[in-house]
Amino acid sequence: MKDDEDLKMTSALFDDVAVGALHLKNRLVHVATVGNYGLDGLPTEELIAYYARRAKGGVGLIITEGVSVHPSSQPNPTIVHAYDPAAWPGLVRLASAVHAHGVPICLQLWHVGRQQLWGPVGSPWGVSAAPDALSGVVPHVMSIAQIAELENAFVDCAVVAKEAGFDGVEIHGAHGYLVTQFLSPWSNTRADAYGGSPENRMRFLRNILQGIRGACGAEFVLDLKLSGSEFVAGGLTPDDTRGIIAALEADGLIDVVGISQGNFSLSLERHVPDMHFPPAPFAGVIAQTRPPQTKTPIIAIGRVMDRRTAEELVANGTADLIGMARALISDPDLPSLWRVNDDAHVRDCIACNVCWGAIHAGKRMLCIHNPEVGAEQSWEPAQRAAAPRTLHVVGAGPAGMEAAWVAASRGHRVQLWEAAGELGGQLRYLAALPGLGEYGGILAYQQARMGEYGVEVHCGHAVTRDELKAWAGQDDVVVVLATGSLPQPYPRVLAALEPLAPDDDRWWTLGAAEGDAIVFDEDGGYGAYGPAERLLALGYRVSIVTSRTDIGANLDYLSRIGLQRRLREAGVPVYTGMQPEAVTSEHLRIKDVYSGKPMMLAKPALTVWAGPRVANDALAETFGRNGGFLNLIGDAVSPRKIVSAIHEGQLLGRTL
Ligand SMILES: Cc1cc2nc3c(=O)[nH]c(=O)nc-3n(C[C@H](O)[C@H](O)[C@H](O)COP(=O)(O)O)c2cc1C
Repeated sequence: MKDDEDLKMTSALFDDVAVGALHLKNRLVHVATVGNYGLDGLPTEELIAYYARRAKGGVGLIITEGVSVHPSSQPNPTIVHAYDPAAWPGLVRLASAVHAHGVPICLQLWHVGRQQLWGPVGSPWGVSAAPDALSGVVPHVMSIAQIAELENAFVDCAVVAKEAGFDGVEIHGAHGYLVTQFLSPWSNTRADAYGGSPENRMRFLRNILQGIRGACGAEFVLDLKLSGSEFVAGGLTPDDTRGIIAALEADGLIDVVGISQGNFSLSLERHVPDMHFPPAPFAGVIAQTRPPQTKTPIIAIGRVMDRRTAEELVANGTADLIGMARALISDPDLPSLWRVNDDAHVRDCIACNVCWGAIHAGKRMLCIHNPEVGAEQSWEPAQRAAAPRTLHVVGAGPAGMEAAWVAASRGHRVQLWEAAGELGGQLRYLAALPGLGEYGGILAYQQARMGEYGVEVHCGHAVTRDELKAWAGQDDVVVVLATGSLPQPYPRVLAALEPLAPDDDRWWTLGAAEGDAIVFDEDGGYGAYGPAERLLALGYRVSIVTSRTDIGANLDYLSRIGLQRRLREAGVPVYTGMQPEAVTSEHLRIKDVYSGKPMMLAKPALTVWAGPRVANDALAETFGRNGGFLNLIGDAVSPRKIVSAIHEGQLLGRTL
C-alpha cells in the first residue's frame, strides 16, 4: 500500500475533529491497551511513560487502559484501582504527562464482572448465574443494592478522573465485561428491572452515563466502547448495538463511541484479530452499527494498521475516528509519520499478538519488534558511537539484521554476512507460509533501515574460521555472531520418513500432492502449524501428532482459537499426548505418552518434524565463547523466539 501517489494527497485523517467539547488535532485515537505496567493497583512511572510516549508520537486522543472501578473487579494486580485514593496522585501525573504533549486523555472505566480471569481469589460479581465462557466461573449474582453500588462506583471514578485532570472517561461496554453482560441477552437472564427488554438491559449503562453527566457536566467527554457484535448465538448483534447507540445519543448521554468486537467466548478471536485476518475485517459490522444521521463520532477499531485502510474507513463514512491499539504499540510515531506522508519509516504492527499473549499470561506487555515498549521511561535515542568501528555481523536473521542497522545508525561501518542466498533466516521461511506473510514486515523494516544506514550486505557467503581469525587481527573490528539455530535431529524411529524441518530448503520446491502428511508438533507454535497449513494448501491430507496436552501451546489463547478453527474446518485429525514409536512398511506406529498404548496410522507420504533447535555457534569455538571481540546474539546464544532475537540485536547494536 505504501508509496502510492494517491496517498500523498492531503489526508482527511489529519482534519481537526470535534469530540464533545474537545477538539482533536487528527482522527487517530489510541484505544485502551493494558500493558500490565501498574503495580499493586497503582500507576507506575513506567505506565505513565508508556502513554507520554504515545502522546509525543502525535496521536489525536488517548484512551487509557481499563482501570478498576470497584474492589469487586480485580482482573490482576497490575490494573490501576481508580477507586483507591492511593492511585489518585499517579492518575494526576498520567493526565498531565499526556497533556504536556497537547493530547487529550480519557480514562477507561472497567468492571470485569464474571470475566474475572486472572485473580485467583475474590468473588466476581455478575449479572446472572451463567458461567464465564473462558474460565467457567459462575459469578455472585448481584442484588439491586449491589448494582446501585457499582453504578455509583463508575460515577465516583469518573469524578476522580475529572479531578485528576482527564478530559473524559470511556465506559468499557465491550468484550463481554460487566456492562456487556448487562446489555446482552446472552449473559443477562435477570427477571427484574435490569433484565428482559432492551431498555431494562440498558438500565445499568444508562444510570452510569446519567450519573456521570450529572456529576461531571456536559464538557466532560463521555465515550462508550461497545462490541459491534458479540458473535455468539443469542448475543448482541450489530442491530442491537445500533439501537443502543441511537437511544443513548437521543438522550445526550454519549459524545463518542468506539466499536470493537467479540467477548470471551470463542468470538475472542475477533476481539484482537491476528495476522490471519485481512485489514479492518469487521468494517462491515462497524458500518452496520452506525445509526443513520448520527452525530456521535464513531471510532472504528480492529486491525486498522495501514493508512489506506484508515483513509477508506473515513472516506466511505464507516467511521469518523480511527482507533488503534497494536499499531501504536508497535510504533508510537505512526501519527507523526503518516502526517508527513512518511509511511516508509513506520514500524508496522504485524498483528502477531505477542503483546496480547504477554498481558494475558500476566506478564508485562512487549512488542515483537519494538524493544522500546515497556522501557519508555529510560529509553534514549541511540547515541552516535564515540569511536566508529568496523562491524562484521555474521548471520542475517532477525537478530543480526537488527544489530546491523542499529549499529550502522550510530555511525559504525557494518558488513552483514549471510550464508544463504537471501536475508531473513528462519523468518524467511515463516513469512512464506499461509497466513503468516506479515512476519515479512519485520524483515522489510529491518532491510529498509539497513539500506538507509548503509549496511553492506553479502548474501551467499558462509564466513569461515580463517576469515574470523583475520578480522581478529585487525584494529577496531568487532564481530557479531548471529548465526541462529539448527533443528535438533528428529527421533531415529522416523529416519525412514526423512521428515522436513520448518526451515528445510525442500519447502521451496514442494508441489501440489494428494498424499497423507503428518506434522509432529514439538514446537507449540507456527513452526509446526505454518507448515501444516502449507501442506493443506498443497492438497495433502494432514494429521497432527503432538506429545503435548494440546495444540499450539506456545501461541496466545486468541490465536489458538483461530488455529483450532482453521484445522477443524479443514478436517485435520489431531492426536495429542502421542509420540512416534516405529515405522513399518505400511504404517506409522504412535504411542500414547500417558498409557503407553500404541496406535497405527497409515504411513504418510510426507512428514514434518517441528521440534527443539540447537544454537548454531560452532564459529564461536574459534575463539572460545568469551573471545573478546566476538559477540553472540539471538538463537546463536540459545534458540528462543523472534522477540528475544530482535530485542537482543537492538540492545547490542546500541551498546557496541
Ligand atoms: C495488549 C492489549 C491490551 C488491551 N487492553 C484493553 C483494555 O484495557 N480495554 C479495552 O477495552 N480493550 C483492550 N484491548 C483491545 C484494544 O483496545 C482493541 O479493541 C483491539 O486490540 C483491536 O484493536 P487493534 O487491532 O488496533 O489492536 C487490548 C488489546 C491489546 C492488544
